[in-house]
Amino acid sequence: MKTEQLAEQFGRKLRGGEVLELVSDLGGGKTTFTRGLVRGAGSTDKVGSPTFTLSREYTAPKFTIVHFDFYRLGEAGIMGDELDELVGDPAYVTVVEWGDIVRDVLPEHRVTVLLNRTGDETRHVTISYPPTMAYIIEDIA
Ligand SMILES: Nc1ncnc2c1ncn2[C@@H]1O[C@H](COP(=O)(O)OP(=O)(O)OP(=O)(O)O)[C@@H](O)[C@H]1O
Ligand SMILES: [Mg+2]
Repeated sequence: MKTEQLAEQFGRKLRGGEVLELVSDLGGGKTTFTRGLVRGAGSTDKVGSPTFTLSREYTAPKFTIVHFDFYRLGEAGIMGDELDELVGDPAYVTVVEWGDIVRDVLPEHRVTVLLNRTGDETRHVTISYPPTMAYIIEDIA
């Protein structure tokens, strides 16, 4: 299945308040996954890499998706505070790329998506989630 289509299925499951950490090497597909997720959540907003802007927002019918990329950030600083305020707020879904620097702000109660390159065009996707978030993978093929 295409990474984007898989992500779209997850996007449909989101209820608001979730935090997703996306982990891969450079160009591993984190932003591509986010694109599918945002579409699945019902947003038509254009998803792009927030590497230079640090964060982007996409409007979905039930919540706003805030997409962070901490790749270029030396220390979390004010962005960490911003992230901290979003966590657990049902009006937001938070997606984080390169989250190492905000490790202590990321809630334990989060979904982790690992994207492993298995070829130029293929990825192996591993999803980890706490038991209370099992709804996220329900009915996903
Ligand atoms: N199966 C696949 N899943 C995801 N991306 C794929 C796949 N096959 C090819 N690609 C390509 O790999 C690239 C992934 O780039 P993307 O920006 O999504 O990665 P990223 O992890 O966000 O990178 P960065 O670490 O720079 O933020 C895209 O050009 C995408 O088209
Ligand atoms: Mg990216």
